[in-house]
Order: sequence, then structure tokens, then C-alpha cells
Amino acid sequence: MTNTLGGTFATAEGVSFTRSGYGAMQLAGSDGARRVWGPPADRGEAIRVLRAAVDAGVNHVDTADFYGPHVTNELIREALAPYDGVRIVTKVGSVRDADGGWPAARAPEQLRDQVESNLRTLGVEALDVVNLRVGGGPDGHSAVSGSIAEPFGALADLREQGKIKHLGLSVVDGDQVAEARSIAPLVTVQNWYNVAHRGDEGLIAVLGEQGIAYTAFWPLGGFSPLQSGVLDGVAQRLGATTKAVALSWLLHRAPNIVVIPGTSSVAHLRENLAAADLDLPADALAELDRVGK
Ligand SMILES: NC(=O)c1ccc[n+]([C@@H]2O[C@H](COP(=O)([O-])OP(=O)(O)OC[C@H]3O[C@@H](n4cnc5c(N)ncnc54)[C@H](OP(=O)(O)O)[C@@H]3O)[C@@H](O)[C@H]2O)c1
Repeated sequence: MTNTLGGTFATAEGVSFTRSGYGAMQLAGSDGARRVWGPPADRGEAIRVLRAAVDAGVNHVDTADFYGPHVTNELIREALAPYDGVRIVTKVGSVRDADGGWPAARAPEQLRDQVESNLRTLGVEALDVVNLRVGGGPDGHSAVSGSIAEPFGALADLREQGKIKHLGLSVVDGDQVAEARSIAPLVTVQNWYNVAHRGDEGLIAVLGEQGIAYTAFWPLGGFSPLQSGVLDGVAQRLGATTKAVALSWLLHRAPNIVVIPGTSSVAHLRENLAAADLDLPADALAELDRVGK
């Protein structure tokens, strides 16, 4: 069966995202305590996953040059260049230190270096979409309020120079979205959101009205798989996996939500793409809507 991928979401800027995308972060390997570091455990399978995603119609792949570092971008280049019909969505705002940490790096000069590094490792003249990753906070993945005019302005300048086609934000709050939009248009905001982590309900609706895609990262819980008795119960009733239910719920939640589940296995990729065609009855949706609230 051909997957629908949940259809597409077209942004006000005219960028069309298949609602099922692919998140490439965990294609990089790990080295003791350093996660997302070094080469993948199975390089051949990593390349096959990327090609299978695009062959199935996925038209956006999420990455960053700090994954690996460089490893994920280089895999993507090997698998997908010259990128016919697929947008590579990268992010800047952090670098890696020798311990595998992810210190912020958002001075204009640092951002220019990161854009150049992404251009080099992806092997392109212009980057399709660049997200400025901002937040941090105690958990490392939540928005921290404050002006982003300087770093976002630096990326807007690079867009004017033709090095970036479209801009987005990651790990931000509503005020930061509004500030960025006063500087340059956005096509996407990428934040942590899944059935058990629901902080952005209001923001998703606002972005929908503005024609901006909300890209949900960690749709399956990231490094800590989603745990929810309700999710388990619904999955059991429908004869589906919890992962398929979690992805389908996201795609039912709002038309501007796009998902970027990550996997290092072609079999899991196929399951995740098929999840967009799992119908969730109204009672299951209502039950799942109450999780995480
Ligand atoms: N902007 C940010 O700050 C930020 C932060 C984190 C992540 N992200 C982006 O979000 C994307 C997704 O994040 P993620 O990959 O860490 O988390 P995720 O998509 O929530 O979950 C990935 C995990 O689920 C497993 N998995 C996936 N499909 C499965 C299936 N069908 N059955 C069983 N297990 C399955 C994967 O293992 P297997 O490899 O074994 O399938 C992997 O361990 C990343 O690739 C990255 O691009 C962005």
C-alpha cells in the first residue's frame, strides 16, 4: 500500500511539507556517555533508511551539523545528494564540546560559521531551511524567554545573501516567534511535543493561523520512550503499536503539525510512515487528548 504520509501542510511562504518527515539525529552513533557522537553502528542501514524515507515520498529530513558532529549531514549527503524533491532542514545555535556536551553558540560570527559548515557537509550552495535553536533550561530542551533579535537577525542577513532559502526556529516560546516574524518570515517552529508533553497547545494553534508548520520533535519520546497506560490501552484495543498510535494522534491533533520520528532501521521507518494511515476513532482521540494535561 502507498502511504499517504498524512498529506501535506503548505506554509504561507509556499513551502509544502509532507506531514510525515524523518528525523536523522539518532543516525549518528554513540561513544560511551557521548550521545549522537561518531559513526553509526550500521552505516549501510543508515543510508538505506534515508533512501527508503525519500523513496516513500517523505520530502523533508531534519538534521544538524552538530549531530555526530558532521556525521549525520555527511550520511545525508551520501544517501540523498543532489536532493531531488527533498528539503534538508538543519539547525544552528549549538556546537559540540570534547565531552559530547552541546554548548550554545549563538553569536553572529558563530552562526555564520555553522551555516558555512552545513553548506560544506551537505554539499549545497544554499540551505533549504535553517532553524535557529534557542532554548535550554534545566532539561536542555525547553524555551527560555528573552530576545533573539541578534542571532535571528544574523540568519536573516544570510537569507538575504542567498545562503539560506527559508528560516525557522526551534525550542522557542510565543514571544520569540513574534519577535522573529517582525524580522523575517518563518516556515516552521520545531519544539518538543508529543502525547505526554503538551506545553505548546496554544502556540500550535497560533502558528496554524499564521501558516507556519509546527514540527514536533521527540514524537516517540526521544531517548526515553513514551510511557502511558492510556496509550498502551488504546494501542491494544486497536491492535496497533503504541508508536503508531502516538504518531497518528499527533497528525490528528492539528493540520499544521508535522512529525519527524527518528529511527535507524528500515523496518521501523516503514511502520512509522504507515502510522499516518491509522485511523483513530473519536473516543480514542478524546482519551489520548487527556494524557499529559
Ligand atoms: N530541535 C531540537 O532541539 C531537537 C531535539 C531532539 C530531537 N530533534 C529532532 O527530532 C528527531 C526525532 O528525535 P529522536 O529520534 O531522538 O526521537 P523519537 O523520534 O521520539 O524516537 C526515536 C527512538 O524511537 C525508536 N523507534 C523509532 N521508531 C520505532 C518503531 N517503529 N518501533 C520501535 N522503536 C522505534 C528509535 O529506535 P530505532 O533506531 O531502534 O528505531 C529511537 O530510539 C531527531 O531526529 C531530531 O532531528 C530535535
